[in-house]
Amino acid sequence: MKTAATFLALCFLGYSYISLGSCVEDVYEYLWQKNKDLAVQTLNLDFLRQMESGSLQAERYVNFTIQDIGYVLAVTKMLKRMSAEVSQPDDIRDFMKGRFASYKSFGELLLNMYFFKAEPPIQRIPALRNYLLYYRYLMLEEPIYFVVGLLPCARLWVWLANNLNIPPTNAYFTWKVDNMGGHPEKHYKALLNKYLNTADKVAKANAVFRDQMQNEYKFFLTF
Ligand SMILES: *[C@@H]1O[C@H](CO)[C@@H](O)[C@H](O)[C@H]1NC(C)=O
Repeated sequence: MKTAATFLALCFLGYSYISLGSCVEDVYEYLWQKNKDLAVQTLNLDFLRQMESGSLQAERYVNFTIQDIGYVLAVTKMLKRMSAEVSQPDDIRDFMKGRFASYKSFGELLLNMYFFKAEPPIQRIPALRNYLLYYRYLMLEEPIYFVVGLLPCARLWVWLANNLNIPPTNAYFTWKVDNMGGHPEKHYKALLNKYLNTADKVAKANAVFRDQMQNEYKFFLTF
């Protein structure tokens, strides 16, 4: 065990200096570990810590919820386009269709939950606008990077919900329960590990992943 861990550590260290594509065995996990500092920073933001203690002002949570709806609706539209435009390879096309269906039904659920009969026009805060701009840039890249760009949201929220100690008596318990059960690895892991198969691709994926983790951080920082 010790030997394997040492090898892995050396491998990751060497990665910044030379191209060792075959070194990263599990890119999905590698991206998360490399950028976990941002997950921890997000967890420690005043907004989330106050959710945890139950002292978060309700209006701040309302603002956050409305912007989150704005995020879901906008990303749904981009996924709709991606699922129409990406015809090859089959597994990435199926991923786009699957994520589109999932985002679409989640968006509809949110709208119903808050009595919206149709999509409301939402004035987006700058943090959301920048986040969405980044997705638009990713739409012009190879589709696998759009997949990578979606992952920070999918993985971070599950992790945050699992790492916030929110008891059932806390007003934000529902948020925890609604987010803690996700399994992003089911949708992302095999694809990332299949297509990010050179050092250059892993490096680019890491840059994209980090930028989107930062966009998540800035989103939570706003409220
Ligand atoms: C909610 O957002 C609006 C618009 O940006 C802002 O004026 C208001 O102060 C925010 N409310 C809270 C509690 O932060």
